[in-house]
Amino acid sequence: MTNSTARFEGRTVIVTGGGAGIGRATVERLAREGGRVVAVDISPDRLESLTAEVGGDVVTVAGDLTDEETVRRVVEVAGDRIDGLANVAGIMDGFEPTAEIADETWERVMAVNVTAMMRLTRAVLPRMLEASAGSIVNVGSEAGQRGSAAGTPYTTSKHAVNGFSQSTAFYYSPKGIRCNVVAPGPVATSIEAPFRSEWAAQRIGPLLQTNIPAVAQPEQLAAAITWLLSDDASNVSGAILAVDGGWAAV
Ligand SMILES: NC(=O)c1ccc[n+]([C@@H]2O[C@H](COP(=O)([O-])OP(=O)(O)OC[C@H]3O[C@@H](n4cnc5c(N)ncnc54)[C@H](O)[C@@H]3O)[C@@H](O)[C@H]2O)c1
Repeated sequence: MTNSTARFEGRTVIVTGGGAGIGRATVERLAREGGRVVAVDISPDRLESLTAEVGGDVVTVAGDLTDEETVRRVVEVAGDRIDGLANVAGIMDGFEPTAEIADETWERVMAVNVTAMMRLTRAVLPRMLEASAGSIVNVGSEAGQRGSAAGTPYTTSKHAVNGFSQSTAFYYSPKGIRCNVVAPGPVATSIEAPFRSEWAAQRIGPLLQTNIPAVAQPEQLAAAITWLLSDDASNVSGAILAVDGGWAAV
């Protein structure tokens, strides 16, 4: 049996988006359970308040994860042993339907939500392969399960998170590395999600009012992410775990 209060003792876990919301709650939970955490965020201010307010072994890297140099620094700071990676950082679109997508929005959403996740995972895998062990958790979304939860760019990016994660699980599970997705519904965080499309407001607005469950707290997502990172989920790989209060069942 693992000691459930110290599941990450002696382990190093990287958390992206660690400065706020779901990422920050994940950092807190990992540190509380004895882990050494490398928290990455584009906002140095958020990382500063993280280290001021959260105890435990937390080191930070400030930088934009779409920049290869940030990825390199994260792996360097993490060191030779990397037991877990939680790709949490992500951004929303402005609920743009396809005909209203600006290239800039599409490119930024795909760069942060998909390409940065791929690059950091690619950079971390050699360390995990050396150890024949590791757990990767990518944060998807209910928007990765359906077409009616966001704009087209974000919806596309979160479907890509699912495909990326299942392909990674397929290739590396036989080598001791697990890869899973946690797919949240609405969560009380600082993520910005402005309606920039009148048609989307008309089309999605009524669904958001009637179909989706209550807004969750980031700690509820951190519980699922850390479960998948831990040995408690040792036989789980390639899963897309809806942590959405039942939205996926609607
Ligand atoms: N909040 C929700 O309702 C919700 C629902 C479904 C999925 N999600 C997903 O959960 C994840 C976390 O979002 P959150 O709600 O906690 O948002 P958040 O904005 O509170 O936290 C995200 C953090 O990521 C950081 N970040 C953004 N772009 C970055 C970059 N390029 N490089 C480094 N750091 C970057 C931000 O500075 C921020 O601190 C995202 O992937 C999001 O898509 C959130």
